[in-house]
Amino acid sequence: MRIHHTSRRARSAVLATVLAAATALAVGVTVSRPGAAEAATSLKSLADAKGRDIGFALAPDRLAESAYKQIADSEFNLVVAENAMKWDATEPTRGQFTFAQGDAVADYAAAGGKKLYGHTLVWHSQLPDWASGLSGPELLQAMKAHIAGVAGHYRGKVVAWDVVNEAFADGGSGGRRDSVFQQRIGDGWIEEAFRAARAADPAADLCINDYSTDGVNAKSTAIYNLVRDFKARGVPIDCVGFQAHLIVGQVPGDLQANLQRFADLGVDVRITELDIRMPTPPTAANLATQAADYRKVVTACLAVSRCAGVTTWGITDRYSWIPQVFPGQGAALIWDDNYAPKPAYQAVAEALGGGVTAPPSTPNTSPSPTTPTPGPGTPVPGGCVVSYVPNSWNNGFTAEVRVRNDGPALTGWTVGFAFTAGQQVTNAWNTTLAQSGAQVLARNAAWNGTVPTGGTVSFGFQGTHGGSNPNPAAFTLNGATCRNG
Ligand code: G3I
Repeated sequence: MRIHHTSRRARSAVLATVLAAATALAVGVTVSRPGAAEAATSLKSLADAKGRDIGFALAPDRLAESAYKQIADSEFNLVVAENAMKWDATEPTRGQFTFAQGDAVADYAAAGGKKLYGHTLVWHSQLPDWASGLSGPELLQAMKAHIAGVAGHYRGKVVAWDVVNEAFADGGSGGRRDSVFQQRIGDGWIEEAFRAARAADPAADLCINDYSTDGVNAKSTAIYNLVRDFKARGVPIDCVGFQAHLIVGQVPGDLQANLQRFADLGVDVRITELDIRMPTPPTAANLATQAADYRKVVTACLAVSRCAGVTTWGITDRYSWIPQVFPGQGAALIWDDNYAPKPAYQAVAEALGGGVTAPPSTPNTSPSPTTPTPGPGTPVPGGCVVSYVPNSWNNGFTAEVRVRNDGPALTGWTVGFAFTAGQQVTNAWNTTLAQSGAQVLARNAAWNGTVPTGGTVSFGFQGTHGGSNPNPAAFTLNGATCRNG
């Protein structure tokens, strides 16, 4: 590990401790507004406490959308530009650099105290035509000038750069991709790029990044051999990025072992572009498998001490690149099209150590449908209002339950009710829900246990019915009866 890097990690650990303490205090003494930017428990606070990065790929224009911005602000401690720092965006004409979009990403990171990750200096894709038309010597010169221009511009602001992206071939050859850089400059182009990047920003960690390298295979082994060679010859390289554009149910079983073998070479590793796609529309079964997959990836990273963190390639399924490139597939991220957290969100939170879905006063009990457990700040009777909005068809239905807390602020909640016509819940969201006979008990998920006085929490579920679907007559919040609203 590089000396400057060690001290940066040490500083982050101190900062994480301070943040964790501040968060703990805040939970106890403040009443946050509904929709306040910093969630009481967020992926960010969990990752901060572990000294790891939780990142997302930012498209800066999306920040104008309040739901996008709120999640971006509260859930992540690292930002990477989805497109804004690539060659075509930063040097569309030779020698003329345009940093407006990239600066928007950098400014956003700085304003929110988030790390900025650089993506990417040299890639065969999103390469402007002027560059792909150059001869070998000219291309080498242009590549070095591009690296100097971009990494120089962001010098001191970026914690790490994907210096070279996707340089290795698909399939089992274990060879280089037949890119314009490989064709015209030859094998030495990667080394030239890393040396130029070190000169441009000596403090930034320098990474090589690729896809389909998450498990041990010919492609990842080719990168492994390159890193080993660079280390042996003193060519600067500090980290390896594993994109992890995965397919549901197909997390490589040797992901952790693969990360570890790179770490053992003396480089940091990182999951850089995580998403897990499935056929659309998503089924409950695939969403559950996806949650288990996300858990596996985060857990594998945490098990490797040199794994700096995990970055997801976007926030919401609404703007993911997947459907355009893989028609009929999508739903790959951890918030859905409407910014509702998916089961994968809870899995990531739990993998990061936030796996307590029960209120703090009952940490070791699983929800029991017959004995609601009052949480801290149990409201007085009448201190809550519930609206129940079903949407029924043939023998199925969904229902959205909104609960306004007019009692003391809550740090955990249960909502109890009973069906009267044999309805059966099949899956639920934004809650951990248990049903026993007619009795249902919905408990807060990891991220939505805090409800201030006057605040509203909502959750929903899908179920079946036998032809009639009357609403439950009464609801309780932490054991106290609510008014129906
Ligand atoms: O900006 C233009 C816009 O002016 C034009 O109207 C529009 C018409 O299609 O295209 C816009 O450019 C698009 C660009 O994203 C910005 O939105 C490109 O068409 C589109 O191809 C491009 O896709 C990006 C892709 O990289 C390019 O290969 C995706 O957003 C981005 O998520 C994706 O990210 C890559 C990583 O950099 C490397 N690893 C794989 C990952 C997924 O492909």
